[in-house]
Amino acid sequence: MEKIIVKKSTGLKGNIRVDGSKNSILPILAATLLCKEECIIHDIPDLQDVKIMCRLLEELGAKVEKLGTDSLKVRADNIKTCEAPYELISKMRASFLVMGPLLTRCHDAKVYMPGGCAIGARPIDLHLKGFKYLGSDVKSESGYVHATAEKLIGRDIYLDFPSVGATENLIMAATLAEGETVIENAAEEPEIVDLANFINSMGGNIIGAGTKTIRIKGVEKLHKTEHTVIPDRIEAGTYMVVAAATGGDVMIENVVPSHLQPVIAKLRESGAAVEEYDDKIRIKAGDTVKALDIKTLPYPGFPTDMQAQFMAFLSKAEGTSIINETIFENRFMHVNEMSKMGLSVKVEGSSAILKGSSPLSGAKVKATDLRAGAALIIAGLIAEGETEITEVYHIKRGYSNIIEKLKSLGANIRYEK
Ligand code: EPZ
Repeated sequence: MEKIIVKKSTGLKGNIRVDGSKNSILPILAATLLCKEECIIHDIPDLQDVKIMCRLLEELGAKVEKLGTDSLKVRADNIKTCEAPYELISKMRASFLVMGPLLTRCHDAKVYMPGGCAIGARPIDLHLKGFKYLGSDVKSESGYVHATAEKLIGRDIYLDFPSVGATENLIMAATLAEGETVIENAAEEPEIVDLANFINSMGGNIIGAGTKTIRIKGVEKLHKTEHTVIPDRIEAGTYMVVAAATGGDVMIENVVPSHLQPVIAKLRESGAAVEEYDDKIRIKAGDTVKALDIKTLPYPGFPTDMQAQFMAFLSKAEGTSIINETIFENRFMHVNEMSKMGLSVKVEGSSAILKGSSPLSGAKVKATDLRAGAALIIAGLIAEGETEITEVYHIKRGYSNIIEKLKSLGANIRYEK
């Protein structure tokens, strides 16, 4: 079984280039199903999840062609089936994002129910409620969600929670619907803006992406386009924490600093120095690490996808830190693993209370989701001795070439088959 072996590493230095955003490319690939002409997309990260989404598009009838090392050409001129199979949906929840495009393009979409995962039940009720509001009939049939509609008609939809996936699925469904759809209490993440920009570049008519109110005027058809995906703010944030946690001084390239304000603010509060440039960020560790109070919130609040990484980092803090996870009901799976390394932490409801300056020591641990896996690497870089991380497939889902990137900074880390 493949493992990652990490040893204590201090003073990491150098430059790291961040890839295109995983959570942007996945909905954008789904959105190529809206268009019969070719879409060329650049800065595609080399991730397992992207490969799964491309396979799904091909299963549905699209042609997917790799261009060079990090671009794709997708052409969905004829969709041969509107059914997304279990074996692909079960591998990656985000495959459910093909539901909106299939429904609005073919008036028929049958997608296997995405299961929950380590971090929570992750229901899809807001997605389905939105599809019904747009005029579709939604049924559950032996594990599948089957939505059909004569045609989709735009109307106002209020999201009980600013769900990223539901906002994305409904933007795509509304793109070819008749009339105007208004999504209220929409998610405001940068990945929503990137998706809207991509669809508008094909001739879509979406305004307000990045705010709580998004207006989508349905159009007849879309045309070809070329698009470059935004940088991955969570990959960037992860390497910023690596630098702060190891006494390092690292330049992170290909970033949008405005996408990282909560992470920058918290790192500065902890005592790190952060210099922002147009498309890069320099992060220098502080002499000491101050305790923090963190509360995860929908964007522009502190991202839940950075919570585990900060927990590893705050093992070094002087004093007590509190991390309140408000987005997912079970996103403290990494606590058990880090406790094996000596982290002094107590979970009470949705909060984890960390007694700081608990020196970590290397142990055998397992990744429980992709961000927890990255957090265990950070813990391993801090801990005395050697840490062995298994279930590393989780990490590969969200971080391309993470071993090579960390080694380039001087980290003592390797894969072991
Ligand atoms: C996206 O997941 C991201 N994934 C997640 O990143 C991220 O953590 C999450 O947004 C929150 O920012 C992708 O973009 C592929 P949600 P998504 O719908 O869309 C509840 C990573 O590490 N909810 O905003 O699934 C849900 O249970 C991953 O890269 C409903 O109740 O997140 C959760 O508690 C992990 N009903 C909360 O909303 C619904 O119909 C946030 O979920 C939908 C969601």
